[in-house]
Amino acid sequence: MDKLIALCKRRGFVFQTSEIYGGLANSYDYGPLGAELLRNIRNLWWREFIQKRPDMVGLDTQILLHPETWVGSGHVASFSDPLVEDTVTHKRYRADHLIESWLEKNGRTDVVVEDMKIDEMADFIVQNEIKSPDGNDITRPRTFNLLFETAIGAVAGEKSKVYLRGETAQGIFTDFKNIVQSTRVRLPFGVGNIGKSFRNEITTGQFIFRTIEFEQAEIEYFFDPESTDWKLLLESWKKAMWQFVTETLGIRESNLRWRRHTDKERSHYSKDTYDLDYHFPFGWKELWGIAYRTDYDLRQHQEHSGHNMEYTDQSSGRKFIPHVIEPALGINRTFLMVIADAYWDDEANNRTVLKLHPSLAPFRVAVFPLVKNKEKLVQKAKEVYSQLAEKYRVAWDDRGNIGKRYLYQDEIGTPFCVTIDYQTLEDGTVTVRDRDTTEQVRVALTQLADHIG
Ligand code: GAP
Repeated sequence: MDKLIALCKRRGFVFQTSEIYGGLANSYDYGPLGAELLRNIRNLWWREFIQKRPDMVGLDTQILLHPETWVGSGHVASFSDPLVEDTVTHKRYRADHLIESWLEKNGRTDVVVEDMKIDEMADFIVQNEIKSPDGNDITRPRTFNLLFETAIGAVAGEKSKVYLRGETAQGIFTDFKNIVQSTRVRLPFGVGNIGKSFRNEITTGQFIFRTIEFEQAEIEYFFDPESTDWKLLLESWKKAMWQFVTETLGIRESNLRWRRHTDKERSHYSKDTYDLDYHFPFGWKELWGIAYRTDYDLRQHQEHSGHNMEYTDQSSGRKFIPHVIEPALGINRTFLMVIADAYWDDEANNRTVLKLHPSLAPFRVAVFPLVKNKEKLVQKAKEVYSQLAEKYRVAWDDRGNIGKRYLYQDEIGTPFCVTIDYQTLEDGTVTVRDRDTTEQVRVALTQLADHIG
């Protein structure tokens, strides 16, 4: 993990937010390369799940919704984590996280922390004398709401209180009727929404894995439970998620697994929930969740807002509230997975490589003039750069020797490096060097785009 964090900082993938002021806990900025990688992940998700499917539409909803949305959805009442406090340092921790690390340290596999209610956690902490990471006593766990409160300035008092959204999903539910009425969608269909969510996470750490501000890409797939078998639908979505991670993002299957939520752990409104876990450097953790949420959310909003949320079946005229399957992905967690999976200490060649899938790499190709003080070489290299830039994000580098330029591009995951040399001026060929094999081949400029793929 330390190596990943160092690489992310050294090469401009991730910086600590407002570092010059000492940083802000659990907050990160994405540097020039990180911004490209993040955008590539986001775009691939949108392309695969929204644009390539006739049964899907996209949405872009607000971070600030009407505050009653979060009352109706149940977040105000129960979107919480179990909080404990170190009685000496007053640092706060999640009780389930402290219990989890105690279980690991003591080799206990007979207890599943996800199954514990808050009172059970309290008893377990007392029975086993679990302390804070600083070795001090901790308070009894209490529920701590994760919603971020803020205020709209124009109105004083209670009415001005709003929440930064805790998930992108609720924007989909509140717009459900508008979508049905304004488009030609018919059940079954899905709606995707992508954007920032905020959670007042108690303890974080683990770099960008759990932050207070993060990006989600969520889908609500609406269907009629009388004509669609939810189990088959859930399976088909699990398959699509697996395919996206392994084929589109190129992640190794051996680092992935499905984990089904136990009956105790599952939210009361969900009939079945799975996590797609990735084997992060700090263990197996959730990357992507999928849940069959029945008609819970639309029904809650119907009851709370008084607004009819029913769908009318065109052929039979039957009115009902659709059921929903929800695949919910974190974009930043995907970023961490992608970097962790791609990281390779290539000892044979004494280099560090990010073996990123070409469609994820910040730059698809780098273009180098062999030397920077030969005008004809530089001019030709600029031509090649401009041609490639029509299609790809291209890096330009004319500093230092070619070997050093290769090493830099390896570290940032650029799949190909193209060098324009004296032979290029004579026969129109360039040297193309492959990131993973380090092999170099001569390729005609007319074939270059095909070679890069
Ligand atoms: N609407 C369902 C929902 O929000 P979730 O499991 O709480 O479900 C979905 O969140 C995904 O969002 C997670 O699988 C994870 O990838 C990401 N996520 C959740 N909290 C996060 C946090 N604090 N920091 C980074 N990513 C987070």
